[in-house]
Amino acid sequence: MKTVTAKRIYIKSFGCQMNEYDSNRIVDLMTDSDGYVRSDTPENADLIVFNTCSVRDKAQQKIYSELGRIRHLKEENPNLRIAVGGCVASQEGKRIIQKAPYVDVVFGPQTLHRLSGMLDRCRKCHHSQVDVSFPGIEKFDYMPEPHKNGAAAFISIMEGCSKFCTYCVVPYTRGEELSRPVADVLAEVKSLARQGVCEITLLGQNVNAYEGTLPDGSPIDFAMLLDLISSIDGIERIRFMTSHPTNFTDRLIDAFRTNPKIVSHVHLPVQSGSNRVLGLMKRGYTVEQYESIIRRLREARPDVCVTSDFIVGFPGETEEDFEETMRLIDRVKFDASFSFVFSPRPGTPAADMKDETPKEVKLARLQRLQRVNDAEAERISGGMVGTIQRVLVTGASRKGGGMLAARTDNNRVVNFEGPLRLLGQMVEVEITDVRVHTLGGKLRAGN
Ligand code: SAM
Ligand code: SF4
Ligand code: F3S
Repeated sequence: MKTVTAKRIYIKSFGCQMNEYDSNRIVDLMTDSDGYVRSDTPENADLIVFNTCSVRDKAQQKIYSELGRIRHLKEENPNLRIAVGGCVASQEGKRIIQKAPYVDVVFGPQTLHRLSGMLDRCRKCHHSQVDVSFPGIEKFDYMPEPHKNGAAAFISIMEGCSKFCTYCVVPYTRGEELSRPVADVLAEVKSLARQGVCEITLLGQNVNAYEGTLPDGSPIDFAMLLDLISSIDGIERIRFMTSHPTNFTDRLIDAFRTNPKIVSHVHLPVQSGSNRVLGLMKRGYTVEQYESIIRRLREARPDVCVTSDFIVGFPGETEEDFEETMRLIDRVKFDASFSFVFSPRPGTPAADMKDETPKEVKLARLQRLQRVNDAEAERISGGMVGTIQRVLVTGASRKGGGMLAARTDNNRVVNFEGPLRLLGQMVEVEITDVRVHTLGGKLRAGN
């Protein structure tokens, strides 16, 4: 009898966690529909998928070098299929095939469920297939039950973005902001919880703009969705990202007061501390409004950690604008944050704005900002020594020697001695010391 070996899919994800979520769902889909198994290397794969990001130029350029690197695999094995998805695919469409004719399929963030059909058509007609259309959120209707991969899981509750900040490609690559139906979100969380997942991260470009409808037709917002999710058996901890300051309602702030399952961490990108720059970015809030949210959030949950995103060197950002950002950082005291030099994205309004700041000046600003933010993150780690933290045990520590690794509310890895049976559980540890990128801890009795 002929033995049939399963086809292998290798997928590499770039960009944000929404892309990572999409990548995992692509594997789930291809496993269920076409019997693929996941491969860790491209060398022995039958299908290679790159799920791309175009948020900054560097990310966008990466994809062509990645494609160049695997080109020889296709020459050696003509049956190998290569697919490019995600935000670069969405923007470039068939230009990808023109630049790299050995690519078989180009699909967008909203057409990933069509990958299997496109591969079939490509096989039959020997032509590359491109579909980067925007059919909305229909992809979720085609997803199989999610497959658990550890005790924590991501789930996208929205697609796209309609905010159109002047520097950003996302509204063009991912389409308009659309919320998934409440019933779908709850069904996915319940399925994960049944499989033993206890921590959920809700994903979206602006999760707190979520709008859903209950079976009786009444509307629900993000704060209510958090309540519904936290009442699902087995869900112990809820994270979400990214939030937008304009949708950070009093009801959401209140949820931090009343719902202990929401972690003490908020990622709330501010981008700049200058109202003039925020206006040019079309962010829709002022520094004063941003700080008011943080103040009220800290009243509701005193130990909440706030992380942020910053763009330095936005067109026309003066030294004084930058100093205002540094003063905001000094007042708010952010935890580990992300910061980037402005990257002009073709087709966005900011790409055409006059930008006279030299590159070296922008880089010097970035380094100064990062130094201050890193020092603050270290100070916060230091302040955790001696505290008791409720952590999710994620695996055996890379350090080996019977050590476990776990994650705190504010996303720090803690290593401590403990039995493997605690894997996937929430336990209490006392933080004993700060190491280079991690914390050390001691398991509390009774776990
Ligand atoms: N939706 C989120 C928000 O509004 O903050 C984040 C979306 S974006 C995928 C992640 C981060 O990339 C942004 O917060 C911003 O700091 C950065 N970013 C986006 N476009 C950029 C650009 N053209 N140049 C530099 N950084 C950029
Ligand atoms: Fe981009 Fe602004 Fe939308 Fe965030 S809110 S994804 S920065 S357009
Ligand atoms: Fe990148 Fe698209 Fe995410 S541009 S950051 S992968 S939404």
